[in-house]
Amino acid sequence: MKYYKKLIGEQCYLSPINVEDADQYCIWLNDLEVSSNLLIFSQQLSLEREKSILQDMIKNSAQIFAIVDATNDKLIGNCSIFRINERNRKAEVGIFIGDKNCWSKGYGSEALSLLIDYGFNILNLNNIMLEVFGYNERAIKAYKKIGFKEIGRRREAIIFAGDKHDEIYMDILASEFESIYIKKYKK
Ligand SMILES: CC(C)(COP(=O)(O)OP(=O)(O)OC[C@H]1O[C@@H](n2cnc3c(N)ncnc32)[C@H](O)[C@@H]1OP(=O)(O)O)[C@@H](O)C(=O)NCCC(=O)NCCS
Repeated sequence: MKYYKKLIGEQCYLSPINVEDADQYCIWLNDLEVSSNLLIFSQQLSLEREKSILQDMIKNSAQIFAIVDATNDKLIGNCSIFRINERNRKAEVGIFIGDKNCWSKGYGSEALSLLIDYGFNILNLNNIMLEVFGYNERAIKAYKKIGFKEIGRRREAIIFAGDKHDEIYMDILASEFESIYIKKYKK
């Protein structure tokens, strides 16, 4: 598969997505170990549906990126900016690293830093928010490392395997984030 280096970090880079990766995304997003951290865990994701979602995103110029391992050019996950509100310059982000061998090695926090660098310094956003399930300690740690702060909780909003968990909201402002990549291009 061909990937393009749109936003480049040390461990990974963000590339435009390929529809041909639909099968790999389906494998990851049907794996409960990955998807129990994502809203998609209660949905049926077939190859047809995933292809059509990716095609729609490409057609609508959605702000979605493949996360690619810089050491071997292999796809490891996906991230996106959505619900973009241009008037108030705010948006939301989502991310998953599907390749479990890459968890807890810094890929997720670097990929998300590249994504929000793009959000703040190319899309000129001012506030970026994300939602995370209360039990997802790895994600919360990664988000705090980048500078996201908890801004609120919806209590017991996630019910999984018989247990109730809070949904946590975190955000970061442009003024709180130091560019990791785009600053190189400052004139
Ligand atoms: C969440 C996710 C994007 C984070 O990416 P990652 O590459 O694994 O995260 P990072 O390595 O950048 O950071 C994770 C940090 O949490 C730590 N960590 C790992 N497991 C942990 C746990 N159970 N409790 C607390 N901290 C933990 C890691 O050691 C690391 O901290 P460090 O850099 O100080 O060592 C990735 O794990 C993932 O996609 N998981 C599955 C899907 C998902 O949860 N998506 C997010 C939905 S909101």
